[in-house]
Amino acid sequence: MRAKIAGTGSCLPLLRVTNDDLSNIMDTSDAWIRSRTGIGSRHLATEETTASMSIEAAKQALDEAGMQAEELDLIIAATLSPDHVLPPLSCEVQSGLGAVHAAAYDLGAACSGFVFALNTAQAYIQSGMYRKILIIGAETLSKLMDWTDRSTCVLFGDGAGAAVVTAEDTGVFAGVLGSDGAKGEALSCGGRHLQNPFASRAPEHPYVQMNGQEVYKFAVRTVPKCISQALEQVGWQPGDVSLFLLHQANQRIIEAVAKRLKQPMERFPVCLEECGNISAASVPILLDRVNQEGRLKRGDRIVLAGFGAGLTWGAAAFTW
Ligand code: ACO
Repeated sequence: MRAKIAGTGSCLPLLRVTNDDLSNIMDTSDAWIRSRTGIGSRHLATEETTASMSIEAAKQALDEAGMQAEELDLIIAATLSPDHVLPPLSCEVQSGLGAVHAAAYDLGAACSGFVFALNTAQAYIQSGMYRKILIIGAETLSKLMDWTDRSTCVLFGDGAGAAVVTAEDTGVFAGVLGSDGAKGEALSCGGRHLQNPFASRAPEHPYVQMNGQEVYKFAVRTVPKCISQALEQVGWQPGDVSLFLLHQANQRIIEAVAKRLKQPMERFPVCLEECGNISAASVPILLDRVNQEGRLKRGDRIVLAGFGAGLTWGAAAFTW
């Protein structure tokens, strides 16, 4: 059995903040941000929460799949910015949807989270343990930004994407996942610091910090490699793939990957111009966009790829 995506959905906050809007409140410019990253704007949460956007995206995905929430066996939510430490985001989504028969848990693999969740869903389906799984990538990254640090805060946005995954006995699926904890310093964000009656530690930097050039080098080296490994498993050449849906971190990274795979940019759709980098949410939001635009036909060969903090990376090659 293999995982088939039966429905997708996405949700962005109403507020769209352009590069020019940012240049009114900090020392930056549309020209700098666009030329370095390809980003033109990002959506930032005002009233929305990670859970509210996840629930909206999930409802759309269930609708397209023609499925009731009660039918779900499992919910996996990939996020690095849940609304609370407890309860888990996935349990809030379960409650919001009324998915009373579903087990629910969160998965933390940063920007690779949705691709990790899809590969995890495939493993459950292949084992026969579950047949109807909701996977979500959702972030409110704006609360993890130091808004006085122009080198990071201009890059990220908020939003959520979801997919309903069902068991199918035809088609193919191959997945590759990897991690390198030794390079974790390249992209970090401190958590709550230890403080109890017997010990306390100095707080860590509570906002996202990044060595942009290290992340760039890692991405252009690792992503083509893990995509090639997934393609090898299914016996496809890069030219057999209709669409490559990559984590939306940076236009230059996507162009470098396309070049290394010797494929035209038309096969690498982007939504980062409007949305910026939304970590775990970027791949499912892009997936929903191309799906709603009618760019995916049943039987098409698709590749998803994620990369990010950890460091983590992953790819999935499958038939739509
Ligand atoms: N506006 C204007 N100037 C800026 C800004 C800004 N928003 N941010 C930094 N600068 C300045 C710096 O202060 C520096 O000025 P200086 O030369 O006077 O010191 C200059 O621009 C160059 O700064 P760098 O950090 O060296 O900029 P770089 O050219 O490396 O571009 C970027 C930064 C876009 C992040 C690049 O490293 C990159 O593409 N990295 C890839 C990683 C990435 O995209 N990460 C996204 C998140 S990670 C993920 O999703 C996996």
